[in-house]
Amino acid sequence: MIDNLLKATIRDIVDFPKPGIVFKDITPILKNAHLCNLVIEEFATRLKEVHFDVVAGIESRGFLFGLMLANHLGIPFVPIRKEGKLPAQTTKQSYDLEYGSATIEMHTDAFEPGARVLIHDDLLATGGTVVAASKLIQQLGGIIAGYSFVISLDFLNGRQRLLPYSNQLISLVS
Ligand code: PRP
Ligand code: ADE
Repeated sequence: MIDNLLKATIRDIVDFPKPGIVFKDITPILKNAHLCNLVIEEFATRLKEVHFDVVAGIESRGFLFGLMLANHLGIPFVPIRKEGKLPAQTTKQSYDLEYGSATIEMHTDAFEPGARVLIHDDLLATGGTVVAASKLIQQLGGIIAGYSFVISLDFLNGRQRLLPYSNQLISLVS
């Protein structure tokens, strides 16, 4: 089962970036090309019934599998970036993290109004990041088709915060 393979591969780094946080390090997955392919195939299989036109990946770790997934499916990838990085006209949202706060932005022409958008990130913790991403997409006239994560930290109840936006949520490890 891929969840056991992933659990055995993801590293726990205690007290990073702050005391009390157990950081889930996905970099060992990236060193294993075969496992990366399995991750993408698993996402593609589990997302078969979820209809979406575009994958929006969240900086920076959401870019890794987000782009691979979009490419595998032959659909566009659009980046959701931290403030001040995107060069053209943007719209923005601020939010709180498990270990700080941040602002994210998207290009206003990232997709056509009415597009069905899958939001992808490596990890769901409090859900603050993806709630902000969901608001951005709705501001731009997009429809939230669902969410995909490699990891969800279910004890932080992020899933509950996403329900008002979409109940389609896939995570490979929880
Ligand atoms: C991490 C992770 C998610 C977010 C999850 O990103 O990649 O984007 O935190 O936390 P939340 O559910 O509590 O919002 P981070 O902001 O650390 O940026 P990075 O991907 O650039 O490391
Ligand atoms: N983002 C928010 N919380 C995290 C954690 N515990 N590990 C990795 N990324 C995170």
